[in-house]
Amino acid sequence: MTKVLITGSNDGLGFLAAKRCVEEGAQVFLHARNQEKLDRAVAQIPGIKGGFVADLSDIRQVQKLADQLNNGGPFDAIIHNAGVYQSTSEELFRVNVLAPYLLTTNVTTPKRLIYVSSQMHKGGSFPKSINQLTYSDSKLWLTMLMTSFSMQFPECYVNAVDPGWVSTKMGGKGAPDDLDQGAETQVWLATSNEPETLVSGKYFYHKKEQAPHSDVHNTSKQEELIELLSEWN
Ligand SMILES: NC(=O)c1ccc[n+]([C@@H]2O[C@H](COP(=O)([O-])OP(=O)(O)OC[C@H]3O[C@@H](n4cnc5c(N)ncnc54)[C@H](OP(=O)(O)O)[C@@H]3O)[C@@H](O)[C@H]2O)c1
Repeated sequence: MTKVLITGSNDGLGFLAAKRCVEEGAQVFLHARNQEKLDRAVAQIPGIKGGFVADLSDIRQVQKLADQLNNGGPFDAIIHNAGVYQSTSEELFRVNVLAPYLLTTNVTTPKRLIYVSSQMHKGGSFPKSINQLTYSDSKLWLTMLMTSFSMQFPECYVNAVDPGWVSTKMGGKGAPDDLDQGAETQVWLATSNEPETLVSGKYFYHKKEQAPHSDVHNTSKQEELIELLSEWN
C-alpha cells in the first residue's frame, strides 16, 4: 500500500488531496501547524493513518518534524503542499522554500516527491535578496529545487504541480479554476502507476506537462540556490 505524507493537509488543496489519496487506497499521513488543527482534520477523513505537527516557519520545528518523519517512514510519496501567499518575505521564504528544502534533504528520500508550485512562479526571479522575496519568487525557487532534486535523486520521481487558481483560504472565493482538478494531479503523481507519472523533473498543470520559467532548468542557478539554502542545514 502506498504510504503518503502531505504537508499542510488540514485545509485547502492538501486536505482534498489527502481525501483523494485515501480513496485511491493509500495509507495517508497528514501534517498541520498545531495539534488542534491536525485532530480536526484527522476526524474529518475516515481512514487516515496518523499525522504530524510542525509550524513550518520555525526551523527548529521543521528539523524536529524531519526526525519524526524518519522515525515514522519511509514514505512512498511526499507532497510538499503547505504554502503561504499574503505574507512577509521571511515567512514566504521559510514556509514555501526553506521547509520543503530541509524536509527533502533531511528526510529519507521517498519514491516520489511532489512540490506544489504555482503558475505565478513564472513572474519570479532568482537570485534576489530574501528580505524582498515575493510569492512568485518563492514558487520559482521551489520549482528550481524540484529540478535540482530530480537530478540529485535519480531513483525518485520528482515533479512539480501548478494546481490552478482555485477557491481555498489562499485562492479566495472568486477563483475561476475547478477545486477538484486542483488536487487531482498531485494525487495522480503520488499514487498512480500510469507511465505519464513515472517521470522526473517535470512541471504539470491538470496532468499535462507545461513549460516552466526558463530558470527552472538553469543548472548554475540551481547550484547557487542549493548553496544558499545549505547554510540552513
Ligand atoms: N489556491 C490557489 O489558487 C493556489 C494556486 C497556486 C498554488 N497554490 C499552492 O497550493 C498549495 C496549497 O494552497 P491552498 O490553496 O490549499 O491554501 P490554504 O487553504 O491556505 O492551505 C495552505 C496549507 O498550508 C498550511 N500552512 C501554511 N503555513 C504553514 C506553517 N507555517 N506551518 C504549517 N502549515 C502551514 C496551512 O495551514 P493553516 O490552515 O494552519 O494555515 C494549510 O494547511 C500552496 O503551496 C499554494 O501556494 C494554491
